[in-house]
Amino acid sequence: MVDERWAEVDRYASDLLLLPDASLDAAVAAMDAGGLPPIQVSPLQGAFLQILARALRATKVLEIGTLGGYSAIWLGRALPHGGRLVTLEVNSHHAEVARSNVDRAGLSSVVEVRLGPALESLPRLEREGFGPCDLVFIDADKPNTAAYFDWALKLTRTGGMIVVDNVVRQGQLADEGSVDPNVQGMRRLMDRVGAEPRVRATLIQTVGSKGYDGFSLIEVLPPPDGSADRSSQSL
Ligand code: SAH
Ligand code: DHB
Ligand code: MG
Repeated sequence: MVDERWAEVDRYASDLLLLPDASLDAAVAAMDAGGLPPIQVSPLQGAFLQILARALRATKVLEIGTLGGYSAIWLGRALPHGGRLVTLEVNSHHAEVARSNVDRAGLSSVVEVRLGPALESLPRLEREGFGPCDLVFIDADKPNTAAYFDWALKLTRTGGMIVVDNVVRQGQLADEGSVDPNVQGMRRLMDRVGAEPRVRATLIQTVGSKGYDGFSLIEVLPPPDGSADRSSQSL
């Protein structure tokens, strides 16, 4: 359900706060024309990701779940010259639309769309020495989210952030009896994050043009005091 007022406030705030961006509009039009589902982040959420990337002085960003490259354009615009965003997509049509949208936005030297199941691309990225990332945005198939979190943690620097989209799912997150595999996936993520001492995390519920949902914001902590000498002491 989308309360009409939630969408209205999204429009009101977008009109006041966001600059017009022809490449983002064209990306949405191309997604629509290509029959991609309209499930990209909202403009205000895109701006949130961009602000976060800038606050982190991000130069290396990973996205899991590209769709038509809409969130990738928001994130790519946050990066300085020489910055790099790798975004993972399993669907070749989505990847093709995304590459064309990224090109049109003038970001083809910044944003790389990698085709393939993320759980195959992630170990490959690690072997290539990609990382450490400043920011990871997890927004793909929800049942695999806890596994994506493990990879994100491995690939993110101390002080970096992991953002996970679509965690709250109209409040179904709190339903322990839910049989929805997407909800179960997000509950596994929450268990995993809650038990992980290397991060500090929060969950922010949201309403807006995309209905009632929410995201988790996860900070990668420095190793505990003294852990630096531990290897030498254990000799
Ligand atoms: N981040 C995008 C929206 C992503 S929608 C935006 O806000 O603009 C989720 C995307 O994840 C879809 O394009 C879907 O094809 C992709 N996806 C689903 N399963 C995947 C997998 N196993 N590996 C990589 N991408 C996957
Ligand atoms: C869906 C996926 C998303 O990433 C999202 O933000 C909204 C909806 C979906 O698969 O329906
Ligand atoms: Mg999403």
